[in-house]
Amino acid sequence: MNTKLIIAAVAAAFAVNTVSAQDGAVDFEKQILPILKTSCFKCHEKEHEDNGKIKKPKGGLRLDSAATIMKGGKEYPDENVVAGKPDASWMIKSMVLPDTDEMAMPPEGKGDRVPAADQALIKKWIESGASFGSWKGVE
Ligand code: HEC
Repeated sequence: MNTKLIIAAVAAAFAVNTVSAQDGAVDFEKQILPILKTSCFKCHEKEHEDNGKIKKPKGGLRLDSAATIMKGGKEYPDENVVAGKPDASWMIKSMVLPDTDEMAMPPEGKGDRVPAADQALIKKWIESGASFGSWKGVE
């Protein structure tokens, strides 16, 4: 093989690698945040007033910022998201549990189950290191 061909082959291999790496990465803000907004924010946002009523985050858990997602809630501090370990992360464990389990989220009768494809995406995000990118969320 002459040098030009080698360079072309290396460049092609590199291009394939970068493309698949991008395909594999889950973008928190674009792909995970909308799921949490739809299914979880109602009960897990920063304390705020709603129709004159003070609404506190349930279980002390806020899912509206990177820091509080990692901090977790009252029962499972530091175990809401454990980077690399979906099986130890309550944020995903609670979604996967059957509706009838008392730790199932959203709680039975309080919202639709998170679709399986979205659960898989969250699992993958945690497995691959749970990066928030530049997203910080609500202070
Ligand atoms: C309708 C309200 C509601 C919604 C929606 C909801 N939760 Fe909860 N969540 C609760 C309540 C209430 C608790 C406290 C449970 C308890 O103390 O029994 C809780 C507790 C939790 C906890 C335990 C926190 C701790 O450390 O104590 C996790 C994890 C959790 N929720 C995750 C989620 C996720 C993820 C979603 C979205 C898929 C979600 N929740 C949606 C009401 C809700």
